[in-house]
Amino acid sequence: MFKNRITDLLGIEIPIVQAPMGYIARAQLASAVSNAGAMGIIETSSGDLAAIREEITKMADLTDRPFGVNIAQAFVRDPSIVEFVVEQGVRFVITSAGDPRTYTTQLKDAGLTVFHVIPTLRAAQKAVDAGVDGLVVEGSEGGGFKNPSDVSTMVLLPLVASKVDVPIVAAGGFVDGRTMAAAFALGAEAVQMGTRMVATVESPIHENWKQAIVAARETDTVLLNRHAAPSLRVLRTERSNALEFDVTSNAMEHMARHQELYFGGDMDSALALSGAVAGRINSVEPVAKVIGDCARDCLERLSALHDQYLK
Ligand SMILES: Cc1cc2nc3c(=O)[nH]c(=O)nc-3n(C[C@H](O)[C@H](O)[C@H](O)COP(=O)(O)O)c2cc1C
Repeated sequence: MFKNRITDLLGIEIPIVQAPMGYIARAQLASAVSNAGAMGIIETSSGDLAAIREEITKMADLTDRPFGVNIAQAFVRDPSIVEFVVEQGVRFVITSAGDPRTYTTQLKDAGLTVFHVIPTLRAAQKAVDAGVDGLVVEGSEGGGFKNPSDVSTMVLLPLVASKVDVPIVAAGGFVDGRTMAAAFALGAEAVQMGTRMVATVESPIHENWKQAIVAARETDTVLLNRHAAPSLRVLRTERSNALEFDVTSNAMEHMARHQELYFGGDMDSALALSGAVAGRINSVEPVAKVIGDCARDCLERLSALHDQYLK
């Protein structure tokens, strides 16, 4: 039903990509996504390649469906990361947070499909020139590390789609069939979900973070560090509120105790990377339900729009 360039390129049934997320995008979450017919992604941004190797090995036991790996370039500590990814037999890589010229040729020469994450039109054109197979176009309402010159998905996605010919995965604000149908109308052929995937049963992070997403209103995230890249979109907490207008310190320093937040559930020990779409998430759900509902509702909505306006 969803046949397009991205389902063909990635060998998936449902054009939904689970976002790469340090420590979270591991086998438990990624295999559930792949088994649901979408694209699970394993992170490498934690920098712990020994643990990542184990996660990739686990994937072979947990799913026979395709999955991919993220190389978040700003966090690469081991320059042999490309060899590492290729050796693991991975077929799809999302590169992010860096220059697309660094790894694209090497990855493509090894036969992999490469998508690059971009936050501006200029970055999109640079990635296309570098030879990527596709783009992840990410608006500033999305969770995690961001460009300080923030542009929303609603402006960025149709802009980039009107200027490039490669297939696009839309990221930042996607959560359900309503938003997925909108992404298609704006020029994407898939959506990537980060914050929605944090608040799933299979997400390995502490229940307190999941429940904080469920409790959040649409105004309960904040973009920190506009003065000292990378900027980052995080949940409002006492700690992040105090940093909102602070231009003297670097918010990255507040990530030092992230393990206590991610796995200990102390929401004020670090910053909880999350997108504004937290305000539209009302329950923690199994991955298969999130993906199944989203796909079905998207098709129903597209069909209803067709019947209303085009019949
Ligand atoms: C907890 C968290 C960690 C993230 N870590 C990464 C990462 O390691 N690499 C990356 O490319 N993007 C990362 N992102 C951004 C996501 O890949 C994704 O594009 C974003 O979450 C999409 O917006 P959404 O949160 O509205 O779904 C992260 C996002 C979150 C919420």
